[in-house]
Amino acid sequence: MSSSAPNAVLSVSGIGKTYAQPVLSNIDLTLLRGEVLALTGENGAGKSTLSKIIGGLVTPTTGQMLFNGRAYTPGSRTQAEELGIRMVMQELNLLPTLSVAENLFLDNLPSHGGWISRKQLRSAAIEAMAQVGLDAIDPDTLVGELGIGHQQMVEIARNLIGDCHVLILDEPTAMLTAREVEMLFDQISRLQARGVAIIYISHRLEELARVAQRIAVLRDGNLVCVEPMANYNSEQLVNLMVGRELGEHMDMGVRTIGAPALTVKGLSRADKVLDVSFEVRAGEIFGISGLIGAGRTELLRLIYGADIADSGTVALGSPAKVADIRSPVDAVRHGIALITEDRKGEGLLLTQSISANIALGNMPAISSAGLVNGRDESALAQRQIDAMRIRSSSPDQLVCELSGGNQQKVVIGRWLERDCAVLLFDEPTRGIDVGAKFDIYALLGELTRQGKALVVVSSDLRELMLICDRIGVLSAGRLIETFERDSWTQDELLAAAFAGYQKRDALLHEAAPRNTL
Ligand SMILES: Nc1ncnc2c1ncn2[C@@H]1O[C@H](COP(=O)(O)OP(=O)(O)OP(=O)(O)O)[C@@H](O)[C@H]1O
Ligand SMILES: [Mg+2]
Repeated sequence: MSSSAPNAVLSVSGIGKTYAQPVLSNIDLTLLRGEVLALTGENGAGKSTLSKIIGGLVTPTTGQMLFNGRAYTPGSRTQAEELGIRMVMQELNLLPTLSVAENLFLDNLPSHGGWISRKQLRSAAIEAMAQVGLDAIDPDTLVGELGIGHQQMVEIARNLIGDCHVLILDEPTAMLTAREVEMLFDQISRLQARGVAIIYISHRLEELARVAQRIAVLRDGNLVCVEPMANYNSEQLVNLMVGRELGEHMDMGVRTIGAPALTVKGLSRADKVLDVSFEVRAGEIFGISGLIGAGRTELLRLIYGADIADSGTVALGSPAKVADIRSPVDAVRHGIALITEDRKGEGLLLTQSISANIALGNMPAISSAGLVNGRDESALAQRQIDAMRIRSSSPDQLVCELSGGNQQKVVIGRWLERDCAVLLFDEPTRGIDVGAKFDIYALLGELTRQGKALVVVSSDLRELMLICDRIGVLSAGRLIETFERDSWTQDELLAAAFAGYQKRDALLHEAAPRNTL
């Protein structure tokens, strides 16, 4: 398609970017009014880099861009936004110590003679949040207090305020569950109808097939195809994305399920986690499913001592011995690891090298008498880089220079060599490409063969059904139901995810006096 297409909004030609090595070369692409273009490709293929060039965050090394027929050379993200070119970044960009309302209108606070109008700010914020179906959130809530899924919705809402001609969504649904995804899709259709051109980046095939009219695939920094979505079925799409065939099935290998390793009894905290009990055996993968806000992350944080339970116990080993865990340090000492979903907030030191980050969790293995052995540190990092296929120039590369998916692999790599009997994973494959997901599943399988007990929280039901021995469903803070492998269906799992809310609402109804009005 040439850049002279009458309905072209944005076109890029010959765009390239070179850091130490080239990461994008010679990209030609035209974006049309009112279309959704899916942009996909393996971790590190260059998707975010291309988006950041269009969004004004990165200056290209070569090439030109045209916006509405005029030369477009944004000097900053703000300049791009002023023209109506906006992007929701893969890594959240909100200020946790400011409120939802302040984050939404940071660049544009409503004011009267220099005074910020709180009332106006509040109502504008409620309106903006309603666009993504979250008008129930108090706009005065600090962003840092929201779960990461809700934070992502705030980020999306922020970009829908004001003029928007081109919207780039970089992995917008990585932290959302079904309900929020639907809301986002509704919003996308409305924007499309208004003529907004959208670039939608995701590793989730079924989403791409649903929202996009065209698909563009990047491989190693080259654009290998731009075609109508309808030309491909899902199998062909996977081939296109990873350049090789992948099965739908995952052989997790033979595992022997041993004695109970983790026994959780009656764990409760505030109204987030309510009386949760379960047991995970050595060599077993216990999945936890549920909607955003159901208490999944909160539950893991309680087990890990990152938050303190109001009541209930965590016991380890067999016979189970109650462990006194009051902090993550206690948890690690007891052999419990938590691999978090929020790699920026908790997981990674972005300004440090890959080897320093991996070393961080493995000090005893690479040091003696308090001194780190540099050669052991590099060797350890190299082992993880190879095992997880982390795309990087060397173990010394800074983590902030890695692509989103490769950062996630570093988070996981850090824990793989540790002597932990219990590993808690929160959304382990978030932002990981289809091919690399299977690498991670294989690693999880390997951990179970070493006799470790795994708890995996995931919003991807298919993923849980693929790898878990049992799946517990959390709903409104309660463990509503636990399913055994082969006795579950996707529909039953989904129904259970809603069941707790229905029960709670029914109870509230009953308890409420009927003559309040
Ligand atoms: N500031 C930087 N310095 C050096 N290399 C960088 C920098 N930013 C990105 N890269 C490299 O550019 C390549 C492309 O990264 P990019 O983030 O665009 O990938 P991506 O397709 O978005 O991957 P993912 O699916 O994991 O998000 C990667 O190999 C990455 O390491
Ligand atoms: Mg990316």
